Amino acid sequence: MIYKLIYGNPDVDSEAVIKEKRVKILPKSEKYKIENIFEDISLKKEGEFLVLEKKIEEGMIFGFGDKVGQFNRRGKQYIFWNTDNFTHHPGSEPLYKSFPFFIFVNENKKYGIFTDYPGYMEIDLDSEGRNIITFKIRGEGFTQYVILEEKIDKLLKSYLYLTGKNVAFPFWSLGYQQSRWSYFSKEEVLNLAKTFREKQIPCDVIWLDIDYMDSFKLFTWNKEKFSDHKEMLEELHKMGFKVSAILDPGVKVEEGYRVFEEAKDRYFLKDNMGKDFEGAVWPGRVRFPDFTSKNVRKWWSQKVREFVKDGIDGIWNDMNEIAIFGTDEDIAHAKEKLENLKLEDGIGVAGAFGEIGSIPRKDRGNEIVHLNGKKHYKLRNVYGFNMIRATQEGFPKNYRNINITRAAYSGVQRFGGVWTGDNHSWWEHILLEIQRIMSLSLVGVFNTGFDVGGFGGNTSAELMVRFMQLGSFMPLFRNHSAIGTRRQEPWTFDKKYEKILKKIIEYRYRLIPYLYSEYMIGILKDIPLIAPLFLHFEKDKKTYQIDDQFMVGRSIIVAPIYKPGTKSRLVYLPKRSYDLNNNKFLNKGWHEVNATLEEIPHFALDGSIILTQESKQYLENSYEDEIIGKIFAYSGKAIGYFYEDDGKTNNYKKGMYNLYKFIYKHGELKIKKIREGYKHKKRNFSFEVFTKTSLEKINKEF
Ligand code: GLC
Repeated sequence: MIYKLIYGNPDVDSEAVIKEKRVKILPKSEKYKIENIFEDISLKKEGEFLVLEKKIEEGMIFGFGDKVGQFNRRGKQYIFWNTDNFTHHPGSEPLYKSFPFFIFVNENKKYGIFTDYPGYMEIDLDSEGRNIITFKIRGEGFTQYVILEEKIDKLLKSYLYLTGKNVAFPFWSLGYQQSRWSYFSKEEVLNLAKTFREKQIPCDVIWLDIDYMDSFKLFTWNKEKFSDHKEMLEELHKMGFKVSAILDPGVKVEEGYRVFEEAKDRYFLKDNMGKDFEGAVWPGRVRFPDFTSKNVRKWWSQKVREFVKDGIDGIWNDMNEIAIFGTDEDIAHAKEKLENLKLEDGIGVAGAFGEIGSIPRKDRGNEIVHLNGKKHYKLRNVYGFNMIRATQEGFPKNYRNINITRAAYSGVQRFGGVWTGDNHSWWEHILLEIQRIMSLSLVGVFNTGFDVGGFGGNTSAELMVRFMQLGSFMPLFRNHSAIGTRRQEPWTFDKKYEKILKKIIEYRYRLIPYLYSEYMIGILKDIPLIAPLFLHFEKDKKTYQIDDQFMVGRSIIVAPIYKPGTKSRLVYLPKRSYDLNNNKFLNKGWHEVNATLEEIPHFALDGSIILTQESKQYLENSYEDEIIGKIFAYSGKAIGYFYEDDGKTNNYKKGMYNLYKFIYKHGELKIKKIREGYKHKKRNFSFEVFTKTSLEKINKEF
């Protein structure tokens, strides 16, 4: 059941919710009480804020997307105000994104609350320990959706019913991706690509950061460094690479620059005097398109359309919180500092404005006005949401592409995915990313990833290996690092480490049949590829306390290493599982397992079938012809799934895919065709069966 509760007089629409047919809209009240779940204590106006207090019971709270800090969110205050928070540590608030949806769990109850308000908001999850949650918004009113279900996966499905299904990224998006701020020239990019192929390290995507542009002007190419970019893109495609490029929202103020000329006085956010608002980002003075306007989105999508048709396969929407280093006034102050900086100083440029670290304190909510007349503080959190939305509209309709954003709001999964922003090459950030990605899954965002290796700071060889092992199980597996930091391409490490890194990437490619099948089934059925253990084992109370292990699909458990020098770790298995490093079954419960540098502890659940293939240099649109299944059947039984489609279009939505279920029972393997909607070539399937006592082999062709 989904209830809709309205508080005050909401005057802005986030457009997060797209379906309300199944929603029960309650008559307006000051104090709602829902079944015996919770009741409102008070709703008060405090100056320009509206404050709601709700009484809750003891229990754990999960969600809020990739905020930092504890995985169980209870006991902290959270701020929803999309912010470029570069050096995020456990206490950093606010951060890049706003997903005001959480799931409450205790022994008797499970429910979800989505507090839909796109402006400034604080939610205090009982930091005082009085069993009270406080919602505080700056504005006139907001809406809450209260979801009651008996199971957590159903809560998530209901939330996705409201806010929309995830887009499917293409098959190749599951390949390894290499990025750096920046690859500065066509030669550098082509060399990078050649090195991957020469060294036979699999790679599918190369990312272009801001330096492909001419003076950071959007939708342009640096003619000198990237002369004939189309030729470069063609060459990369011929070598089997896809290319994804960055776009920031800030349009450089420059007379005669077409994009600026088209948008000025029409499409940009305004200041209080009704003039185009100006700030400073990488290009210097910039103005910002008002993506909350449909008209502006139409204009932007046209720009994207023209830009991507040269051969760009994905877009990375950055700086859209909006991150602003300074206004005119700040620039005047920082001028002196800036004169001594070189561009290569990168982040230092932002630092010179004195912004890094102090960004949350800047109040641009009052200075900026949207084209519909609303103040920015009421719409800020949907700025990035609408940017990625406009970008997605620029891609061909039926083709799948990558599209990710740094700033986001609930519902963003309809347009694309996210990465977690500027993490660091810190051991602590490996653990943090495990929790952030799981929390993103719990707010319905399934296309997720983080900067493998760490964005800021210098990584070490060992840290890189551990980051890479974790990254290799993520939906988006992208190595990215900042200007001025140690390079992170696999071959920039000692030979011994290069070999290990290559092996990790190859292992990812071997798992593709399992990963893509689980990924696509997840897209169709609203199940995240990465999930906390409790999503699949909700009756097992212990799983709620496990925040450093996760499930990949429905059959693999991963327990990453996030401390240096580690040779083993404790792992909780909610069911008997097969240790894929040590090749043996382990019973349900706690185990100490080894984890040499080459090993990330990971396990296949007993009763599952994991489909694999040989590794390859790049994926393109489909699996290898030979599929190798591993059947884990300690007790003689197992099931597994194989999904297949064209890998590149949205035809799967029309049912043009195949879904097979493999059922193994005491020596016999049956195939159930759940759906055959896609014409496929004949494949060889060979299986190895791991049972309590023996190892058998089976071959099938169909
Ligand atoms: C921001 C992004 C980062 C990018 C950099 C330069 O810091 O988060 O990924 O490399 O800007 O564009």
